[in-house]
Amino acid sequence: MNTIGRPWKMGTLEIKNSLVRSATDEGLSTKDGAPTQKLINAIVELARGGVGLIIAGTAYISREGRWGNTGTGMHHDRLIKPLSQLCRAVHNAGGILAAPFKEGSLLKYALQIKEKVNCPVISVEGWRNPLEITKALKKIDAVSMSRPFIREPDLANRWLGGDLSPALCISCNKCLDLTLKSGLGCIFHKHKKDGHS
Ligand SMILES: Cc1cc2nc3c(=O)[nH]c(=O)nc-3n(C[C@H](O)[C@H](O)[C@H](O)COP(=O)(O)O)c2cc1C
Ligand code: SF4
Repeated sequence: MNTIGRPWKMGTLEIKNSLVRSATDEGLSTKDGAPTQKLINAIVELARGGVGLIIAGTAYISREGRWGNTGTGMHHDRLIKPLSQLCRAVHNAGGILAAPFKEGSLLKYALQIKEKVNCPVISVEGWRNPLEITKALKKIDAVSMSRPFIREPDLANRWLGGDLSPALCISCNKCLDLTLKSGLGCIFHKHKKDGHS
């Protein structure tokens, strides 16, 4: 079996493959912090694209901790209903959505952690080549990516389906500005009517 398709466990929760979407602020919540339908569409598209685990963009639990105008909030009871809608939609699409946490950013560092602690280790930043990912997965549980999933929300299904050409993301970082201005999107995308750009 392709190692990328290997399931792993986070506590009692089984994750169906070793690809994780890193914490990515989609810039698609209202000024009040509520997730919009566009955000739900973008996350559902990712879940349908086969990624094992989706880490939500860093959410704020007080207004002071807010990044930009359009991050997702968890600071008020009125947000429970829209957040539940988001979780239900992801679940129905076969995905798992998790709150963000800080991961080790270098593989070497991740390996040192793995040797010392008995918990799953995920490495983030710069993963683009599935052959290199397969090598890393001999030692760690999963790799996490952000920008490759912005350009190709169905990247997991592509690799799991046997097309092992590297991610198309060129790491140009133009999505950072784009996301702040108009919500999650890649410069190579054509405008989508009902989803992100
Ligand atoms: C548009 C965008 C938004 C991001 N938002 C967050 C965030 O909210 N919290 C966080 O910890 N990291 C955030 N990141 C960083 C990513 O999670 C990831 O660590 C970084 O992009 C490197 O991984 P990559 O090379 O796979 O893109 C963001 C990255 C991008 C491109
Ligand atoms: S804008 Fe650039 S860095 Fe961002 S997803 Fe597209 S190709 Fe990758």
